[in-house]
Amino acid sequence: MRKKIIAGNWKMNKTFDEGMGLVSEISNMLKDEYHGNAEVIIIPPFVHINAISRMVVSDRNLSVGAQNCSNHVSGAFTGEVSAAMLKSCGATYVIIGHSERRQYFGELNDWLAKKVDAVLAEGLIPIYCCGETLEERESNKHFDVLKSQISEALFHLTSEQMSKVVVAYEPVWAIGTGKTASTAQAQEVHAFIRTLLKDKFGAEVSDNITIQYGGSVKADNAKELFSAPDIDGALVGGAALQSRSFVDIVKEMA
Ligand code: 13P
Repeated sequence: MRKKIIAGNWKMNKTFDEGMGLVSEISNMLKDEYHGNAEVIIIPPFVHINAISRMVVSDRNLSVGAQNCSNHVSGAFTGEVSAAMLKSCGATYVIIGHSERRQYFGELNDWLAKKVDAVLAEGLIPIYCCGETLEERESNKHFDVLKSQISEALFHLTSEQMSKVVVAYEPVWAIGTGKTASTAQAQEVHAFIRTLLKDKFGAEVSDNITIQYGGSVKADNAKELFSAPDIDGALVGGAALQSRSFVDIVKEMA
């Protein structure tokens, strides 16, 4: 059985006190209301990771992740944060290649391949993001774009390494727009990604890889998305900034 994962990517939101308040609410609500088996990941800004990890250390199925990390191990890279630092602060997951990093910070597939390596080398789990723009979809290039994003950043891995990676499909046109991919559109892409991974790494690896969907996920569309055979969870942005809306999404995953 593949692991089901619901992750809340806070992006650049929440001061320290706001963040601590939000995690405490999420933690209490999950204890009272959620009895399923999905793993829930809080992905706050770097500066909150240590404190949040300590808060949730004894919570069942609640983990902490980071939104990015350096491809370097250490050294003179002002402003960067290494995978080892994240691990030492209690993070277990790291988002790599979010479309906002690609779009605003020029992160390219070959660069992201090195970040994936850095994360795996520390025993952390990369959540590798891929997804096409509206223009790419409308010109029917989305499968080619996804194939490049997946192959150029992940195909150098061994099967054993690949089996540790989580993939997130986040169509850029659905992020923060309120326009979710239909379940059929998302399922089609998830199945395509799984086939790519199967052709490269074999069925045993591809069958066990968690593929999350992200892009305007809300409680009222989560249930239908989660019913699709290749959608194994969600990477949630806006709706993860409030405890009620985030926990309601988690509760849709049995
Ligand atoms: P929204 O849920 O706000 O569309 O954001 C999705 C996302 O980018 C999560 O990483």
